[in-house]
Amino acid sequence: MDFKVTPWEVEGIIDYQKLIEEFGTTTIDEGMLRRIEKDFGELHLFLRRKIFFSHRDFDIILNRIEKNQKYALYTGRGPSGHTHLGHIMPWIFTKYLQDKTKANLYFQMTDDEKFLHKRDLTLEKTHTFAYENALDVIALGFDPEKTFIFSDIDYAKTLYNIAIKVAKRVTFSTAKAVFGFENSTNIGMIFYPSIQAAPCFLPSILEKEKMPVLIPAAIDQDPYWRITRDVAEKIGYHKPTAIHCILLPSLQGASGKMSASDPDSAIFTVDTEEDVKRKIKNAFTGGKMSLKEQREYGGNPEICSVFQYLHYLFEVDDLKIEERKKGCLNGNVMCGECKIYLTEKILTFLKEHQKRREKARDILENFLLKD
Ligand code: TYM
Repeated sequence: MDFKVTPWEVEGIIDYQKLIEEFGTTTIDEGMLRRIEKDFGELHLFLRRKIFFSHRDFDIILNRIEKNQKYALYTGRGPSGHTHLGHIMPWIFTKYLQDKTKANLYFQMTDDEKFLHKRDLTLEKTHTFAYENALDVIALGFDPEKTFIFSDIDYAKTLYNIAIKVAKRVTFSTAKAVFGFENSTNIGMIFYPSIQAAPCFLPSILEKEKMPVLIPAAIDQDPYWRITRDVAEKIGYHKPTAIHCILLPSLQGASGKMSASDPDSAIFTVDTEEDVKRKIKNAFTGGKMSLKEQREYGGNPEICSVFQYLHYLFEVDDLKIEERKKGCLNGNVMCGECKIYLTEKILTFLKEHQKRREKARDILENFLLKD
């Protein structure tokens, strides 16, 4: 395969159809979309545009929603740095699901994972980022009564008690096959997947009722759910279900995911106006070498990171995005124009988000689970 997707690494231009086959997940088809539309009264942009495109047993959750039965949401973040706009895509979708179904959300901050995985990160750093990233989650407007955020380090006792039950049933050979671990992988990383599995069963324990969870995340996290699903029933719980989105590409080209180690590959929620202007000005586009050529032959929105940002996040009007695409293909819309439009959209979003993010500091404690 000429691309690679693991929870820690994304390389090449991703063929999402192939990924569905490789991971053994299911496409969200038209029938499922109609069903969601009926249940929720509308289809979220991410569903209309097939940004959430794949699932594992989401129909089981829809069955429960239709029967007014409870389920819980579970998602998370590996706090290796500040939050970027790709990270918040699954969170925006999770908020939509919480708004529509009033489900409880359990949000895991994997300060342990990022400490173990990143050679240059101290535990103090990842732990601090866990709570910095939590501000972004809260800023998106999750219901404080129904949202529970925890750092693995600060909730270790509870999580460990679940994780060891998972770990006992996953062999090293399975972990190697699923995650690509090698002899040089540190043993913390080898145990870690059982910590990310633990919150799948946490709602059943805390709410004292056997409950399935739905995990909205990008497809890169799916290997975790694969091993968790294998052990769930053996330890007395429902298999976790999942709904997957694509990865927002880097600003420097349509291949691969954005990286915290390359600050100009992504827009971070703490970026300044100057940062945003510079990053979008330098962003990779599908434009031609000269304006003359662009007018004559048109651009290529498929490979354009500016167009992708508009399509995935910032142009919510379906008609307008189609017009922009046509305009680009016809050579009527120039890259400079799209860049100015996107910059304004991002600045408007960030201005509001950063205000809410600062206010979130005052209420952070209300959201936290700790031992
Ligand atoms: P992390 O911090 O790599 O990513 C956080 C969430 O963002 C998704 N994501 C993206 N989505 C769209 N475009 C991108 N470019 C992009 N990059 C990342 C991830 O899929 C994830 O949903 N191990 C996890 C933390 C975690 C978790 C979970 C995530 C623990 N439990 C449950 C999801 C669900 C991590 O490092 O995520």
